[in-house]
Amino acid sequence: MPPVLELKNVVKTFDLKKGLFKRKKIFAVNNVSFHIEKGEFFSLVGESGSGKTTVTRLILRLIKPDSGEILFNGRNIFQMDKENLRLFRKKVQIVFQNPFTSFNPLMKVKDIVKEPLDIHKIGSKSERLERVKEVLKLVNLPEEFMERYPDQLSGGQRQRVGIARALVVNPEIIIADEPVSSLDVSIQAQIVNLFLKLHKELGLTFLFIAHDLNLVRHLSDRMAVMYKGEVVDYGKTEDIFSNPSSDFTKDLINSIPPIDFKNVF
Ligand SMILES: Nc1ncnc2c1ncn2[C@@H]1O[C@H](COP(=O)(O)OP(=O)(O)OP(=O)(O)O)[C@@H](O)[C@H]1O
Ligand SMILES: [Mg+2]
Repeated sequence: MPPVLELKNVVKTFDLKKGLFKRKKIFAVNNVSFHIEKGEFFSLVGESGSGKTTVTRLILRLIKPDSGEILFNGRNIFQMDKENLRLFRKKVQIVFQNPFTSFNPLMKVKDIVKEPLDIHKIGSKSERLERVKEVLKLVNLPEEFMERYPDQLSGGQRQRVGIARALVVNPEIIIADEPVSSLDVSIQAQIVNLFLKLHKELGLTFLFIAHDLNLVRHLSDRMAVMYKGEVVDYGKTEDIFSNPSSDFTKDLINSIPPIDFKNVF
């Protein structure tokens, strides 16, 4: 079976104007390759500006690579026919970094979570509502939250809504771009545990993007470290922590504050 997701030598540059006549090319993503197996919890880490969000935007087809390939279940995502593209859009879901800006404030929770079912025309009206109830339960939100608006929810509750919305169409992989970095530390642990639960109980595949190495170590099976657009370490999380190959990763690991995670999770 091919990996769920595979990047092969992906390059993405941006043109940056430097003054009136000078232009500079930024290699936001430079020759990046990695793959994610079905059921894997995969993390992508790196400092700010290293290219992590650009990778997610490429995977979501929001931008096109200059060169290289991105494959979903063995199929090039930029060369899909209509039917495979429809499936791809359903099977690859995203959880955003900031649950305060990612929802329409005029929509109730039930409609926010239901919307992907409407878009993909899945189920009857009553089946859709049943499914919304089901996923709210999965993310531990009480049913009465269905009638609330985003501004009536805490940050953690909003992020649960975001996760429920990603889950509702029964995806194969969830991409989460720094999904907890806008939340309080105490809430972060709850949301991270929810990701772990979904990974274990539903066998969901995750691409998790983070700054925090402590989190990544706790969560992921395998990982890639990005530095200035390139992957500088890639492999099993424990192998990278015990034997990092790049100086950047070594520094990153050495700068981890000593947190005893047994007390947090
Ligand atoms: N649309 C764009 N136009 C020009 N440059 C861009 C664009 N998008 C990203 N970049 C540049 O590409 C590089 C990678 O940015 P990216 O947002 O992928 O980093 P990141 O790893 O997600 O950072 P952060 O941790 O801060 O979210 C940065 O130098 C950024 O300034
Ligand atoms: Mg980013």
